[in-house]
Amino acid sequence: SLKVAVIGGGSSYTPELIEGFIKRYPELPVKDLYLVDIEAGKEKLEIVGNLARRMLEKANVPINLHLTLDRREAIRDADFVTTQLRVGLLAARARDERIPLRYNLIGQETTGAGGFAKALRTIPVILDICKDMEELAPNAWLLNFTNPAGIVTEAVLKHSSIRTMGLCNLPIGTRMQIAKALNVDVSQVDIEMIGINHLNWTTRVIVDGVDVTRQVLFQAASGQSGFTMKNIPDFGWDLEFLKSLGSLPCAYHRYYYLRDEMLKEQLHAAETTGTRAEAVKKVEDELFEMYKDPNLNVKPPQLEKRGGAYYSEAALNLVSSIYNNKKDIQTVNVRNNGIIGCLPDDVSVEVNCVIDANGAHPVQLTTPIDAKIRGLLQAVKAYEELTVEAAVTGDYGTALQALTLHPLVGSASLAKSVLDDILRENQAELPAY
Ligand code: G6P
Ligand code: MN
Repeated sequence: SLKVAVIGGGSSYTPELIEGFIKRYPELPVKDLYLVDIEAGKEKLEIVGNLARRMLEKANVPINLHLTLDRREAIRDADFVTTQLRVGLLAARARDERIPLRYNLIGQETTGAGGFAKALRTIPVILDICKDMEELAPNAWLLNFTNPAGIVTEAVLKHSSIRTMGLCNLPIGTRMQIAKALNVDVSQVDIEMIGINHLNWTTRVIVDGVDVTRQVLFQAASGQSGFTMKNIPDFGWDLEFLKSLGSLPCAYHRYYYLRDEMLKEQLHAAETTGTRAEAVKKVEDELFEMYKDPNLNVKPPQLEKRGGAYYSEAALNLVSSIYNNKKDIQTVNVRNNGIIGCLPDDVSVEVNCVIDANGAHPVQLTTPIDAKIRGLLQAVKAYEELTVEAAVTGDYGTALQALTLHPLVGSASLAKSVLDDILRENQAELPAY
């Protein structure tokens, strides 16, 4: 009997997940599904939980749905625990986005100083969940979607005995975008992805056995490339740049390769429409109003306005492949173990893996990692290693080194100013540094 616990169950994304469980019920017969949240999320959990119940009823799927604030009860004897929580809610995200902008630095939820702040808040909470799991469900899988997913996954890999994988919707989204651009079915597309979460490069695209990487690069080099996520403005890529890079950067690479344009856009948004968190807050409020409607019994299409669209595809493909020992290939965050030779063994990387009942097994890379990719990859990964260390030790110096090293900060004095703001404005959610 299959038991799944979703931590952060009151999230506006939950109907997306429920839709996925409904779709896959024949291959993934979940008996008990626990949606867990904290006291502060109680009202949202009620609303979204009731919608989930109506969705299951409408689809006639006999999953027992439990809504609870008791995390330990939900974790006990679970087979899968998924995390989609946001420590400090959207208000904390808005701070993460605004603090760096004060210093003319990119202010983003997962990338740069904003992602750093989110990691400091999130890692202690996730490691606490791991402690519960070690005690109550030591063999369960922890599938982590909580951002910054790569860093959080690395913390779990390094500081807990729980089996885990980190997951993002960007790889599956990229494959869909490539299929659309080439006008083929997504099932015909194979891609090689190399890197770390929100910093991966599609180094090779194969359609029906033919290498079409260069064609994809030409497609991506236009005003509106179509290769982005809903939360990231679609500045197209420069053709010369892409040709010389030789691979397709991910949506988040714009914060590095097109930093000035992105910063300008962010500063403008912050003064007009608001940062992404502030925009998302509006979408969320609208969504929850809709969720309250007792006649609603399907996932509302408005949810696809969110950057996490298709997140349940990625999530439940993974659960199903583990449960059914499928041995198919998915791009997930796992322990490096030498697959990317220029990074340490014990860090998390986001690469293609064969997924079976024993977990994720990285597929040997077919393209070498040259200096163009290596330089940025190593720098950002070193920042991530230091961030994990800072979050578990609470050491100010380590935090300062992490931020200074980040390519989007790159200055000790700026790093110090930003760090002090982050620590001061996140006091309620952080240990003392
Ligand atoms: C992307 C990322 C997710 C992130 C989401 C944000 O798709 O892969 O990790 O959570 O966007 O979307 P939002 O609508 O909250 O800005
Ligand atoms: Mn992601």
